Amino acid sequence: MKAVGLFQYLPIDHEESLLDLHIDQPEPGPRDLLIAVKAIAVNPVDTKVRAPKAKPVTETTPKILGWDGAGEVIATGSDVKNFQVGDQVYYAGDISRPGCYSEYQLVDERIVARIPRTQDYFAAAALPLTSLTAWEALFDRLGISSSGTDAGKSILIIGGAGGVGSIAIQLARSLAKLKVIATASRTKSSLWVKQMGASHVVNHRNPVDEELKDIGIPEVDYILCLADTDQHFPAMANAIKPQGKICCVVDNREPLPMNLLKPKSVTFVWEFMFTRSRFETEDMDHQGWILNRIAELVDNETLVTTVGDTVEPINAANLRLAHRQLESGRTIGKIVLAGWE
Ligand SMILES: NC(=O)c1ccc[n+]([C@@H]2O[C@H](COP(=O)([O-])OP(=O)(O)OC[C@H]3O[C@@H](n4cnc5c(N)ncnc54)[C@H](OP(=O)(O)O)[C@@H]3O)[C@@H](O)[C@H]2O)c1
Repeated sequence: MKAVGLFQYLPIDHEESLLDLHIDQPEPGPRDLLIAVKAIAVNPVDTKVRAPKAKPVTETTPKILGWDGAGEVIATGSDVKNFQVGDQVYYAGDISRPGCYSEYQLVDERIVARIPRTQDYFAAAALPLTSLTAWEALFDRLGISSSGTDAGKSILIIGGAGGVGSIAIQLARSLAKLKVIATASRTKSSLWVKQMGASHVVNHRNPVDEELKDIGIPEVDYILCLADTDQHFPAMANAIKPQGKICCVVDNREPLPMNLLKPKSVTFVWEFMFTRSRFETEDMDHQGWILNRIAELVDNETLVTTVGDTVEPINAANLRLAHRQLESGRTIGKIVLAGWE
């Protein structure tokens, strides 16, 4: 089968950073679906896994990246209960397994759902990783009610125009009924976050606590930080309300000054979208449930899909361009690729 992969971890401008390959089609394990991949989306995690390592590493079998796919089930493992051949599905997958930059991919049925009825593969592929991250961060980690009992509370979403922010704004606004303040640093990204449902926009190039004071909202109940944790940590400590909650998703480079949170008894929590699949937690199938719920919300027009750019076909040259764009840190919404040459 066709695939795009790497043997060495190289800067994206190196022509061997991502290669067009032919590899063997995998065989499903008991709970696996074998999926014919029709469309994929790229995420910053792809670029982080691909990036050069401190000591050079050479893989003996190609590393296949990609954790956002949509496609058709073409075979099922012996213990699969919820899917059959011909189902149209979408999923983020498991970071410890080969990803979706390949014509066929294995994914555990517990972290898969049927694509939204009203959407094609392009639109569906844009959704899973960012929706799972946003849902888990807001409702599982920050503990916000998804049925509106926290209505009227406030949330600051840092990095609002990116893939995760675009979904998080929509969920916080339409399901949780929160007042959403999102950050964006450019005219285009500011317009986008308003379109997603933010009622206020502040600029993350300035300290966000100062920016919040300037718009008359000096403190917020919740903060979801989807960008540079080190940069924003002191301002988050100032801007969070006493007994408020902060969730971060991006690794810190330096130790975080956690003591800044103690006077206000602030809860700090991480979100990592791959925790459930990586550790096969007892509630791993919650990700399948979340994706089903997201499909319903898209079908009843509560959520809009967040496709920014679409590219055809899926090959190494186009994926290198997509990685370069993501590495600029200025992507709005999602970049989706579809079709094999
Ligand atoms: N832990 C997890 O499970 C998990 C899951 C998904 C993503 N992530 C991580 O979360 C981050 C965001 O992911 P994504 O898919 O949303 O990325 P993305 O789509 O590439 O985000 C791009 C956006 O980030 C904004 N941005 C850039 N630098 C910023 C800064 N210093 N402060 C605030 N915003 C900034 C930009 O806004 P402007 O153009 O307006 O400047 C741009 O719109 C990535 O690092 C990703 O690896 C973690």
